[in-house]
Order: sequence, then C-alpha cells, then structure tokens
Amino acid sequence: MQQVEKKQRENWGSRFGFLMAAAGSAVGLGNIWRFPYLAGENGGGAFLVIYLLCILFVGLSIMIAEFAVGRRTGLAAVGAFKSQNKNWTFAGALGVLSGFFIMGFYPVVGGWSLAYVFKSVTGLLAAPEAIGDAFGAFITASSEPLVWMIIYLAINLVIVAKGIAGGIEKAGKVLMPTLFVLLIFIIFRSVSLPGASAGLNFLFKPDWSLVTGQTVLAALGQSFFTLSLGMGCMITYGSYLSKKEELPSNALTVTGLDTLVALMAGLAIFPALFAFGMEPTQGPGLVFVVVPTIFAQMGGIGPLFSVIFFVALTVAALTSSLSLMEVVVAYMIDEKGMARKPATYITSAIMGVMCILSSLSMGTLAGVKLFGVGFFDFFDILTDKIFLAIGGMLLAIFVGWFMKKEDLKDELTNGGTVAFGLFELWYTLIKYVVPVIIAVVAIMGIAAIEQTSLMIFGIVIILVLAVFSKKL
Ligand code: PHE
Repeated sequence: MQQVEKKQRENWGSRFGFLMAAAGSAVGLGNIWRFPYLAGENGGGAFLVIYLLCILFVGLSIMIAEFAVGRRTGLAAVGAFKSQNKNWTFAGALGVLSGFFIMGFYPVVGGWSLAYVFKSVTGLLAAPEAIGDAFGAFITASSEPLVWMIIYLAINLVIVAKGIAGGIEKAGKVLMPTLFVLLIFIIFRSVSLPGASAGLNFLFKPDWSLVTGQTVLAALGQSFFTLSLGMGCMITYGSYLSKKEELPSNALTVTGLDTLVALMAGLAIFPALFAFGMEPTQGPGLVFVVVPTIFAQMGGIGPLFSVIFFVALTVAALTSSLSLMEVVVAYMIDEKGMARKPATYITSAIMGVMCILSSLSMGTLAGVKLFGVGFFDFFDILTDKIFLAIGGMLLAIFVGWFMKKEDLKDELTNGGTVAFGLFELWYTLIKYVVPVIIAVVAIMGIAAIEQTSLMIFGIVIILVLAVFSKKL
C-alpha cells in the first residue's frame, strides 16, 4: 500500500450537508436575539443600512476568503495560518481565543432560550403585561438561569464529544425550516397589529443623526458575529469542503440566508414592539419579551407557538455554539495532540466557569466590573467589537498580501474549471479595501467608546499573542 503523508481529510457528505452546517453556524442567536436589539439600540434604519453594507462589502468577501484558505490548506484555524507562514500563527490563535470568549456568554443566552421553551407553558404567557418583569427577574436570579445554562452547555458537550453526529444535523434540517415558517407567521401577526407601521418606519427609515463611530463599529462587529467570521470557523468548515464545490456561490448562499433571517427577525419584532408601546432600546431582553407577548395576546394555542419558537431558537443557537466549541476542540486535537473527549471536557469546563460568571453578572455579581463592565459584557464586547473585526482584518491582510494571487484564483475557480467573474473585484476588496475599512472603523470605534480600558486590554492581548504565538 502506498504510504500517505497526511491523513485523508474528511469531507462533508453532501453540498446540502455543508450548507446546513455553515448556515447553521451562521444563523443563531446573532440573528434573532442580537440583531433586533442592536438595531433597536442603534437607531433602527440607519443601523440596518450600515449593517447591510458591512455584510455585502466586508462579510461576503471575508467568507469567500475563509473558505478559500480552509480548502487550500485543508487545515483548521491555527494550522491553516501556521502552514503558510509561522509568523501568522497568532491570527489563528486569536480565532481560538475568540471562540472561547464567545462561549463565555453565548450558552447563557442559549440557556434562557431553553428555559423559555418550558416557561411558555408554565404560566408565563398567562400574564402578558408581566412578561417583561418576569424576564428581568429570571435572568438576574442566582440559580435558575445557571441550571438552564449548564443543561445547554451539557448538550453541546455531548454532541461535540461524539463528533458532529447525525442527530443535530437531522434536528437542524427539521427545526431550521420550522424556525423559518414560524418567523413568517410572527411577521404576519406583527405587521397586522394596530400601530405596527411605526415599527416599520423605525426599521426602514434611517435617521442618520443617530449614527456615530460606535454605530458603525457595532454594525461591523455584528456582521462578523452573525456570519461566524474572523475566528477561523469558516476556515475550519472550508477545510472539509470537496474540491468540486464552488466557493463563491456557497459563500453567497450562506450570507444570503443569514441576512434573510436577521431581516425576518427585525420584521417580526419591531412592528409588534411599537404596537405594544414598548421601547426598542431595551437590550438583550427584546426577543424574550416581544415574542412571548405576541403569542400571549393570541390566547388559545399561543403558548404552543411560543414553545415551538423557542425550541427552534434553541436549535439555531446550538448549531452555532457547536461550531464555536468545535473550533477550540479542533485546535486542541490538531495542534496539541489531545484526544477528542478530554479536549471537549476541559474546554467545556472552562467555558462553564466563564458562563457562570457571565450569568451571575446579570444579578448577584452585577457590582463586579472588569475594565468597567460586567463579565457578560466583557466577553461580548471584547469579541464582537475587537477580536472578530481584527481577526477579519488579519485574515484579509494575510490573504491579500501573503498568499499568491494565482493560488487564490486557482482555489476560487476550482483550477480554472468554473468561472468567478468577480475575482478581480473580490481580490481588490480583500487586499486594499477591507483592511482599510476595518482599521478606520476600529479606530473610530475606539475613539468613541466608553470602555477605553477594555479596548486597550483587547489590543494588548492581541500583541501578546503575536509575540508568543510561535509556541502555540
Ligand atoms: N454566527 C453565530 C450567530 O449568529 C455566532 C457565531 C459566531 C458562531 C462566531 C460561530 C462563530 O449566532
């Protein structure tokens, strides 16, 4: 038998399987929980326009680049950079760290969603006017949200420890379309409520006077977060992709689906929000208050719809957090030679501790501040406002300046067998435009943000990684 140097790289079973996995990673809490409240806090329409521009010009280009790097090198985040240029290992390491930190708060929200599956049928919807207060009381409690978070994290652990098994894929194939249908249903309910048009105005009529450097940074960070970019996730997924697949069109499909779900969430939430006379700036509780309120108003089988909605939201969250955990676990397996099970257990244990702190920072530990913010915000702001954007910028610089143009062209056209008419445009964007946009936005954002010390801390971490990365 012929000696093979590298292990044969696993491939996705089918194009559909890959699309579901990549779209599953992209579509998550970012679209349904986060996008609406960020839009609500950042002025609605103006935020939406900037967000869409970020997705189109930055996000899509970076996703194509991540797929290309992953498939070209056939390696996950750290290995992909390292194999091309040792000095760039830190860019991959930053990705792994981002995965870690996002998992310091994501499962907390996943736990809320899981809890709401049960709360929907245990009386929450019986008192529609108290739904907002009930949410506040729930997340600030000291033990209840912890229990749900731990259950949520345990589900992740079991699946990742086994490798990505058929179970979650099967569940995703049923529940993601269910989520879609339910969103359409909620949109109809929402826009037909009296007073709904104020919500549509809020979402689609930009008020530019509300835009600051912060708004743009929030939109850019969200575009990375929602597309799972800037942390090696799509590099890893691309590395399992067959040479026959067309990368640009797959990237377009994933980006399109993700954007569609975010827009649908906006359409589902804002009209109802204004119809009920609620505030768009209520932050992370938005979806947990508005959606149950809509179903409570329905009476009858309303609670059933609410249950299905939160089941679907939990599954959307799961397919994302699995990918996040997988990036960290894959690093420990590939680069540290650990077996999958212990790698998963250690990773989950650390994530569990971070999540306990995050969850408690909503109530019991509200007074404990790290660089001026609580634990939940610490992990959130650090990743979404700094690490992901900088990670994306590093990837763009790496691809634009350290990889050969011919290699990229070869990868993106499958060795010249398929056309990618926009190659030159994409290359120009990645090489010149994307790094500059991100640098400018990051600088504007830093100048405008209140948590300067947190920003500086984030940048110091990146520099420390850059110095010590060769050991990784
Ligand atoms: N894209 C996911 C969401 O929108 C979150 C995520 C970020 C997943 C980064 C993987 C990597 O919820």
